[in-house]
Amino acid sequence: MGLRTVFTELVGIRHPIVSAPMGGAAGGELAAAVSNGGGLGLVGASRADAAWVADELAIVAARAEKPWGVGFLSWGAEVSAVERALEFEPAALMLGFGDPRPFLPAVRASGAVLLLQVTDMAEVEDALAVGADVLVVQGSESGGHGARQGRSTLTFVPAVLDRAGAVPVLAAGGIADGRGLAAVLALGAAGAMLGTRFQATPEATVNAAVHAAVAAATGADTERSSVLDIIRGAQWPRRWTARTLHHPALDRWRDRETELAQDDSAKRDYSDAVRRGEYPPEPIWAGEAIDNIDTVVPARELVETLAAEAEAALRRASGADELS
Ligand SMILES: Cc1cc2nc3c(=O)[nH]c(=O)nc-3n(C[C@H](O)[C@H](O)[C@H](O)COP(=O)(O)O)c2cc1C
Repeated sequence: MGLRTVFTELVGIRHPIVSAPMGGAAGGELAAAVSNGGGLGLVGASRADAAWVADELAIVAARAEKPWGVGFLSWGAEVSAVERALEFEPAALMLGFGDPRPFLPAVRASGAVLLLQVTDMAEVEDALAVGADVLVVQGSESGGHGARQGRSTLTFVPAVLDRAGAVPVLAAGGIADGRGLAAVLALGAAGAMLGTRFQATPEATVNAAVHAAVAAATGADTERSSVLDIIRGAQWPRRWTARTLHHPALDRWRDRETELAQDDSAKRDYSDAVRRGEYPPEPIWAGEAIDNIDTVVPARELVETLAAEAEAALRRASGADELS
C-alpha cells in the first residue's frame, strides 16, 4: 500500500516519518540512519556553533544516501551556524521555539524545505505569515520543550489542519509506534515527527542509563515543568516548559519556580549533585508515549517497523483485513 503523502513527495522520501532534531541526542549518525531507512532524519543542532554543525553535518552528508535535514532553536541559534548548515545542502531545515525571521533569507536562498515547529495557535499564525513550507504541530504529550499551556496532539492537529490550507502538517508529540502514526495520518496530517522513540536507538547520542530509563518508564512518570531549566541555569524562555522523566528536584520545587529562580544555593546544590553523579548530567527528556517503548532498536529498522505497523493499523481500521 505505501504511505505516500504530500510531505513524502515534497521532500522525496519513502515513509512519512521524521526523527526530531533533538539537541544532545540527534547527531549525524542518527539522522543518516533514519534517512537511509526511508524517513527524514534531522540533526538536532539546537544552539550549537558552526564548528559543531560542520562536524555533525559532515557525518550525515557522508552516510545518508537519501534526503536529510537539520533543526535549530530560533531563540538561541546563531545565523552563522544556520548558514554553515546550509552549505551542506540539507533537504529540509527546521526552526522552532522563537522568531524564525532572522534565518529566513539564508534558508530561502538555499532551497531547503522550511519546517516550522509550532506549539500554539499564535505560533501557527506566525508560521503561516512567514511562509512555512511545512508546519510541525507539537502537542503537549511531547518529550522535551513545548508550550506551557499546550494542547494535546489529537485536538491541536485537526484545529491546525483546518487553518493551514494547503500547507502540509506533521504531527509531533505522543507518537511512538505505528498506531500513533496511523492515527495522525487519519486526522489528515502528512506525517509524524517522533523524538522520544528515536532517543531509544543505538545511534542516539545518549548514554545507556537514558536508554534504560526510557525503556522502563511510563507516561505517568513524565512531567512538564520549568524547574529543571531554572535549576540548571538553562536560558530557555519560560513560555516553554519541558517534559522530562521524574527528578527529585521536581518534588522539591514544584510550583515554586519564582522562589527557585532567586535561590543560588539551590542551583549550586543541584550542580554539585550532578558533579557527584547523584543526578544525571542532563534531565531525561521524554514524552507521554514512553509506555510504548521498551526496547532499543536500530533507527533504520525502527523506521521500517513504524511504517509497516501504520499500514497494518490503517488496514485494520478500514476493515480491509476482514474483507480480503
Ligand atoms: C530528548 C529530546 C530533545 C529534544 N530537543 C529538541 C530540540 O533541540 N529542538 C526542537 O525543536 N525540539 C526538540 N525536542 C522536541 C521534538 O522536536 C518533538 O517535538 C518531540 O520529541 C515530539 O514528541 P515525542 O517526544 O512524544 O515524540 C526534543 C525532544 C526530545 C525527546
